[in-house]
Amino acid sequence: MAKRAAILGSGHYLPSRVVTNDDLAAMFETSDEWIVQRTGIKERRFIEHDGIGASDLALPAAKMALEQAGREVRDVDAIIFATLSPDVYFPGAGCYLGHKLGLGGVPALDVRNQCSGFLYSLSVADAWIRAGVYRNVLIAGAEVHSTGIELTDRGRDVAVLFGDGAGCVLVGEASGESEGIKVVELHADGVGAEELWVEAPASRRIPRLTEAMLDEGRHYPQMNGRQVFRWATEKMPEVAKSVLGKAGLGIEDVDLFIPHQANMRINQMVAARLGIAEDKVVHNIQRYGNTTAATIPIGISESWREGKLGAGSRVLFSAFGAGFTWAGAVVEF
Ligand SMILES: CC(C)(COP(=O)(O)OP(=O)(O)OC[C@H]1O[C@@H](n2cnc3c(N)ncnc32)[C@H](O)[C@@H]1OP(=O)(O)O)[C@@H](O)C(=O)NCCC(=O)NCCS
Repeated sequence: MAKRAAILGSGHYLPSRVVTNDDLAAMFETSDEWIVQRTGIKERRFIEHDGIGASDLALPAAKMALEQAGREVRDVDAIIFATLSPDVYFPGAGCYLGHKLGLGGVPALDVRNQCSGFLYSLSVADAWIRAGVYRNVLIAGAEVHSTGIELTDRGRDVAVLFGDGAGCVLVGEASGESEGIKVVELHADGVGAEELWVEAPASRRIPRLTEAMLDEGRHYPQMNGRQVFRWATEKMPEVAKSVLGKAGLGIEDVDLFIPHQANMRINQMVAARLGIAEDKVVHNIQRYGNTTAATIPIGISESWREGKLGAGSRVLFSAFGAGFTWAGAVVEF
C-alpha cells in the first residue's frame, strides 16, 4: 500500500519574558490602543538574555513533539528547520538543533520561506515520507525576532508586530485509515520581494554592510504594511479554498482552521471570506504576536493540548508572508 504521511506529535516553547504593549510604549512612541486596534496583539515574548538562538527555542519544543508522538530522539532521521532568524548567518539552525539533540550525521535542511516556512517544510516532509526516503521527519519553526527589530520611533510599524517562539511537529507514516496530510499547496511571487524584507547584510553589495546602511537601519525589517495586508487577505482565502477543493472537502467539513498569525484583522477577514465559524478559528496573536515560521506549529501544539484538535480532526491551514510566499494545507489528525 502506498505510504502516507501524518503529523504524529507537536510541541511548542515560548521564552518566559513577557513584553506588553505598554512596555513597548515606554521604549518608543506607540500605545496599547493603537496596537490592539490595528493588530489584536496585546503582548509578545522576547528571549530573556543574550545568547539564545532559534535552535535553543526549538530544542524543548522538539522534545515535546517527540514525546507526544511516542518517539525517541534516535528515531528522527531528518530535520527541517524553518526560520528567517537562524542563530547565525550560516550554517543553518537545523545543524545547531541536530547537534543539540545529539543527532550527529542526521540531515538538516533549513527552509527560508518566512511566514509560509512551516507549510513549505510540511510539503517536503510529506514528499520524503511518501517516497520512502525518511520515516520520521522533525519539523521546527522557530524565530528570535527581538534581536532584529528596531525598538525606536523609526522602526515602530514593524517592531510592535513580532515576537520570539518555537513550534515543532514530528511527521511520520500514517497508520489510521483516513489520518494524514491530504494536500499541501505552495506559492511564491518575487514581485513582492522588497515589500517586506531585510536588505542588509547583502551578498550583492560590496561591502555587504556599511556604516551608512547601519545608520539608515537597512539591517532592520522594512515593510509596506498596506500592500502586505492587501495581498494576505486575498491569497490566504484563495489558497485555503484551493486545498479544500483538492481534498474534496467543503468549509463545513473543517473542524479547525489554523491560519498564520500576522494580524488579528487579517485572520478575521480571511475567516469571513471563507465563511468559517469564528469558534473554529485559532488565534494566539494576542499573546505572542507574529512568530513567523513558528505560528502554525505553536497553534497545532496548543490546540492539541487544549483538546480543540484530536484523532479524526480535519484541520485547514493557510499562510502568507515575505517573498511574497503563501501556502495552504489540509491535514487529518
Ligand atoms: C502594520 C499595520 C498594522 C499598519 O496599519 P495601517 O492602518 O496600515 O497604518 P498606517 O501604516 O497607515 O499608519 C497609520 C499611522 O500610524 C502610525 N504608526 C505606525 N506604526 C505605529 C505604531 N507602532 N504606533 C503608533 N503609531 C504608528 C503611522 O506613522 C501613521 O501615522 P500618520 O498617519 O501620521 O502618517 C497594517 O498595515 C498591517 O497589519 N499590515 C500587515 C502587516 C503584516 O501582517 N506583516 C507581516 C506579514 S507576514
